Amino acid sequence: METDCNIKTTPKGFQCTLCNVNLSNLPSLDQHVKGRKHKTLSTVRASRKTQEEHSVFVSGIKPEISQTEITEYFQRFGPISDVIMDKAKGVYAIVQFAETDGTQATLSCVEHRMKGLKLRVKPREKKDFKMIPKKTGSENLQQSLDRLKPQLCQLMSVDAQMKHVVERFQLRDNEKEARGLLVQLLQEVFVEFFPDSKILPFGSSVNSFGVHSCDIDLFLDLENTKVFQAHAKSTTEQAGEGMSDDGRSEDSILSDIDLSTASPAEVLDLVAAILRRCVPSVHKVHVVGGARLPVVKFHHQELNLQGDITVNNRLAVRNTRFLQLCSGVEDRLRPLAYTIRYWAKQKQLAGNPSGSGPLLNNYALTLLIIFFLQNCEPPVLHTVDQLRDMACEEEECVIEGWDCTFPTQPIAVTPSRNTQDLCTLLFGFFSFYAKFDFASSVISVRKGCALPITDFLSQNKEEAMHEEKPIKTQPHGPKLGPLNLLDPFDLSHNVAGNLNERSHRSFQRECQDADKYCRSLQYHRKSTKGKPWGLVRLFTPNGEVPQAKTEQPTISIPFKSAALPKGLRDELHMAGDGFRLLWFQKVCSAVEGVLQRVLRCRLTPSAGAVFGENSVVDAAGEMETSLNTSTNDSCDSVDSQNEASPLGTAVVGAKRRLSSCSDASVSPQDKKPRLARKVRPELPHWICAQKHLVWAGRRKVRRELMKDADSRPEGSCVELESQVTTHIIEKEPALKQALEFKVQPQMLSGTESTKVILKLEPTCDRTGVFHDFFHFLEAFLPKMVETLMEKEEGRV
Ligand code: UTP
Repeated sequence: METDCNIKTTPKGFQCTLCNVNLSNLPSLDQHVKGRKHKTLSTVRASRKTQEEHSVFVSGIKPEISQTEITEYFQRFGPISDVIMDKAKGVYAIVQFAETDGTQATLSCVEHRMKGLKLRVKPREKKDFKMIPKKTGSENLQQSLDRLKPQLCQLMSVDAQMKHVVERFQLRDNEKEARGLLVQLLQEVFVEFFPDSKILPFGSSVNSFGVHSCDIDLFLDLENTKVFQAHAKSTTEQAGEGMSDDGRSEDSILSDIDLSTASPAEVLDLVAAILRRCVPSVHKVHVVGGARLPVVKFHHQELNLQGDITVNNRLAVRNTRFLQLCSGVEDRLRPLAYTIRYWAKQKQLAGNPSGSGPLLNNYALTLLIIFFLQNCEPPVLHTVDQLRDMACEEEECVIEGWDCTFPTQPIAVTPSRNTQDLCTLLFGFFSFYAKFDFASSVISVRKGCALPITDFLSQNKEEAMHEEKPIKTQPHGPKLGPLNLLDPFDLSHNVAGNLNERSHRSFQRECQDADKYCRSLQYHRKSTKGKPWGLVRLFTPNGEVPQAKTEQPTISIPFKSAALPKGLRDELHMAGDGFRLLWFQKVCSAVEGVLQRVLRCRLTPSAGAVFGENSVVDAAGEMETSLNTSTNDSCDSVDSQNEASPLGTAVVGAKRRLSSCSDASVSPQDKKPRLARKVRPELPHWICAQKHLVWAGRRKVRRELMKDADSRPEGSCVELESQVTTHIIEKEPALKQALEFKVQPQMLSGTESTKVILKLEPTCDRTGVFHDFFHFLEAFLPKMVETLMEKEEGRV
């Protein structure tokens, strides 16, 4: 690290000039330097430097000079690894040598002449390589909204506003034509090299949801292509005027390849080479290999279009047909989709600029809309299974083993009986997802319902290939995450699998805010005073909707199916519908562990309804409680639910750690008469006492304790965190009077994502430190609970 010339010392710590980040201390600097971003940028910079040193810039060329001729001329100075020509104008080239000797020999030659032309040869410009901070795009978002606002405000209804959004953003005919011409041009070039291949567009360019300047997604179908034919005919003849003559040089650089033995990466390299050398106006060609589906990315300068080519994405062409069918069947889908896509863009919830990232992609967002429409009353759209049944025999379609059958024509689909207007449906979308229990569901557009997550938790996933049927149902489970949305055809693919907790939370929170706003008059009625109304306020970033106030300090521990240890996943899978109760108990046990064993708090179960096994059941029974419901009023449903639940008994039996106080617990039977007497039973809770500032200075103590050991982030190791606490308790003075507070666990689901919330309330805080401890616990407790649950499995 000392030798890393990118690191500068600053008055506030360190700065990495390569990645453009500030680090406050040595351990964070160390972590940064070992991190992926720094390593990747260092590698990219090193390879750029090598490229610069190995190449020369040649100008003074005339368009009629070919790449082969340039290569032949410069070969006399040393072996050449690549020649990059400026295809559009053909006036310069970058000649890259295999060795630096070639560069030096070329530069030391006084004069370069070719075909009577005097060439100018210069060393490559040395450009400083550093990270260019990404633009947030918020300025553009604001500008776009500023332009849209006055137009929307003057319309008479939300329905009219939604239709206007479509008009404003949809692809115009000339844009569609330009895309069509590009497809045709690429088809003509590619078929020369890949005989019988086809270029098929998919995604927003053709799925009826495209917006101005959306990218063009293409699938190069090589099903009928046996060989890559390097000796393609002159592409100049084939592609007409404007085509660069670089195509003629292909035979000197590429060779014939049997495609049956070529790997997808090799095929993509060929695709990239063809794009670079043979397609006019195409530049910035690069292969992105790490993604689920590797692609070649390019930019078409004249059309100012970003394009992606994949070679193994037949399913995408089919699901694009499916989206086309849905908008053909249901007129209300497009206004809804354009409005929701624009809303999601304004709120920065969807659309990952570089293709990968933690936000929803537009395809996933469209499927969420379709799923909502399948769940309206009566449904607006049919489920994929219902559509399959409406198809005729000739329309049967199986791709990669997945059943992709649906009718070709919208006329074959029974129309919906739902007559709700767009304004109501948009409101419905937000309400639906505002209270959707994402954590415990897997959304199936195929079945039109939410499947229980427990069906996907077990590691022993069945091979569901039916021998007699060539159709797959689910050969391996989808990658689970905070939002699980199955592709309608590839049932092993979670199209929202890239989302992280944060982006999922933002999505649901924005739905909740939008839901609240849609209940107001401002949404429904045009302002007589010319104020923003309807969609305008909905689109405004950082909404004008007042945020809900948190009345009581609350810590949330979300149900994260993807982070669960294997054994627990299996247990929850077995528990079926009762999985929440079981998980709740595990969380309570871990919370108890963190407070008592890791943070050395004194924990006393509350008097009366002591925190014991049956009481845990009581608290878990609150699971249908929404945040808006007073906890004290919601007990009536609890007992009946738990009594009826066989799992309740099973879990109680299995759960020993929490049984330490079970003698004082209240059985469901005991509680009925009490409720009848209208005595409010106190919900189970702990009283937690702490005499030391165990949260203060932990990072420093942790660093000292670790010293030479591998650094570990906060909350990732139980033993280490316990040692940190012990150290603080031994070395730091105690408080004059212990801080005491109540911790009340509650299970939430049904009205929102499954999670445990811990409500905290100070009962004795003479020294005024409760809020500091709470803020520490807010971040520490959920992480530590996860670690402890893993440890129980013997994995940490
Ligand atoms: P996008 O998410 O890019 O959607 O997926 P889009 O409608 O084209 O939107 P923008 O304007 O480019 O952002 C493009 C296509 O890729 C396929 C679908 O066919 C989708 O229409 N796709 C995407 C999948 O098949 N699976 C995925 O998980 C994502």
